[in-house]
Amino acid sequence: MQLSTVCVSEFVVMADVSLHQLYAKIREDDDFAAVLRTLMEDVASKVDFSHVKSCVAIGTHHGEREIDFTRRLLPNLKSFVAVERDPEAVEVLRANLQKGVLPGVETSAVEVLVQSWSGPDEPVDAVLMLNVMNGITPVDRTALIRKLMTQ
Ligand SMILES: C[S@@+](CC[C@H](N)C(=O)[O-])C[C@H]1O[C@@H](n2cnc3c(N)ncnc32)[C@H](O)[C@@H]1O
Repeated sequence: MQLSTVCVSEFVVMADVSLHQLYAKIREDDDFAAVLRTLMEDVASKVDFSHVKSCVAIGTHHGEREIDFTRRLLPNLKSFVAVERDPEAVEVLRANLQKGVLPGVETSAVEVLVQSWSGPDEPVDAVLMLNVMNGITPVDRTALIRKLMTQ
């Protein structure tokens, strides 16, 4: 999975196809959904996230994993903001969110490079970063964490 992730941006340059198409193809062949489900059950038995009312998710792609995570582990969530750079992924994510996959949660998806994002409008209780930090340089990671901590 890590290798696939690292290679995706190079494939996008080499092939005249979108990141969205390539990522969807990679996801067809991996077992990440099953791994995440097992991990979530393990975490659910050990950690209580019931205090989490607001969440920002960074680098969600179409958001399927973040939505699974939120539904299983954040029972009292009221606000969910996704930050994603890929326009097609954001389009799919917005369509999913509009279907009401997170009932009772106010949702939005922002299409922006996290490096250019101004940070959440209000302080949030949780930040989800699934499979994204390895694609962000250490300097940008530090800047992101600082941005999140100072809101
Ligand atoms: C490997 S995918 C993971 C998607 C999702 N979190 C998951 O686990 O299924 C990484 C995602 O992060 C997005 N991403 C990577 N770097 C980003 C950045 N600097 N700003 C915003 N999004 C970014 C990519 O476009 C891609 O959709």
